[in-house]
Amino acid sequence: MGSKEATGTQSRTEREDFQATTDPALMEAADRTAEVKLLTYKELYLLWERQQWQTQELDFTRDREDWTERISEEERFQRMYGLSAFFIGEQRVAEELGPIMRAAPSEDQKIFLCTQIADEARHVRFFERFYREVGVLESDGLSEMLAETSEHLNDNFGRLFDEMLKQRTDRLAAEPEDTEALVEAVTLYHMVIEGMLALTGQHFIMDFNEREGTLPTFVEGFGNVARDEHRHVAFGSVFLREKAREDERYKQAIQRTLEESLPVADGVLSPPWAEEEDFELFGYSLEETRQFAGTCLMRRLKVIGLG
Ligand SMILES: [Fe+2]
Ligand SMILES: [Fe+2]
Repeated sequence: MGSKEATGTQSRTEREDFQATTDPALMEAADRTAEVKLLTYKELYLLWERQQWQTQELDFTRDREDWTERISEEERFQRMYGLSAFFIGEQRVAEELGPIMRAAPSEDQKIFLCTQIADEARHVRFFERFYREVGVLESDGLSEMLAETSEHLNDNFGRLFDEMLKQRTDRLAAEPEDTEALVEAVTLYHMVIEGMLALTGQHFIMDFNEREGTLPTFVEGFGNVARDEHRHVAFGSVFLREKAREDERYKQAIQRTLEESLPVADGVLSPPWAEEEDFELFGYSLEETRQFAGTCLMRRLKVIGLG
């Protein structure tokens, strides 16, 4: 990506607090060896205690000026796809994590997943506050906002969240002792939705705003969201590595879920108005976006033992 690379994103993921999460995608060593050290569930919990932040502290005055005065109507419309996918995505993952937490076999895993539910709730409130303070939509209540912004999404989004993810969490709610279903759910939730989709979208959206010099407080809050996501993905990586080593059956469940969900997740990367594949979003082509997502996924899979 060369000259287009914004220094902000690069230096962000090299920061100590991002490196502390041990998400394999942030570790260059993961290109060479599967033996990188990941945090344990207990250590991830302690890191969560140290990495708290508040949505109520964010002041969006400058962002509101940018949104209403500096960003054109056409660009506002184009930005709505990414914003909506995140806003709705955060709400879906917050509300679908309960059955995964309950099905986790160990107490340390359950307690970490409880902290993740709190994080996802905070991410929903972050978007709600940004929308309200900046005046993105007409709606004011949270459920009205979600309904209004969901009009910007595409069919693949619905398939991934409301069909593939929901089927698996419904199954776990009914059969919490089904470890194979749990492995499938964590693969879809932590590896595909958070690891591949969310962190890729965040990388390009923050990079774009930093290059354009727009929405500084949004970027600040979104950076906190990204740090949380790296911690969540680190949980997924350590959990799936453990399961993959435990039983060949679980390894196959990871493989199967990736094969089924990656094409759908890839479809979520394209806004509904992008009919051709050669469109640019946030200054990057779809191919560049795919490449970034692919590299991150490969590093994680290698560490899990599938690469
Ligand atoms: Fe989140
Ligand atoms: Fe998350």
